[in-house]
Amino acid sequence: SFEIELAESGLSLTVPPHKTILEVLEENGVTLLSSCRAGVCGTCETTVLEGIPDHRDSVLTDEERASNETMMVCVSRCIGRRLVLDI
Ligand code: FES
Repeated sequence: SFEIELAESGLSLTVPPHKTILEVLEENGVTLLSSCRAGVCGTCETTVLEGIPDHRDSVLTDEERASNETMMVCVSRCIGRRLVLDI
């Protein structure tokens, strides 16, 4: 599991291995736009302020992946223990 911190609210949430970031957000009343929920459409793209995403989408280019500035929260996870998201 890993932690996500939401920059706007200061809320910290735990993402367990069997749930996506998007699911954990929704369970906690944070609604994001989403569509495919499979990492292919780009709708759930979210800005990353801190931490390194484990990119599992098929939307971002290699360059975008390497920059770690944004991620698809419906499928991608975290390398390490914590991400700070700009939501
Ligand atoms: Fe389509 Fe996340 S909802 S990429």
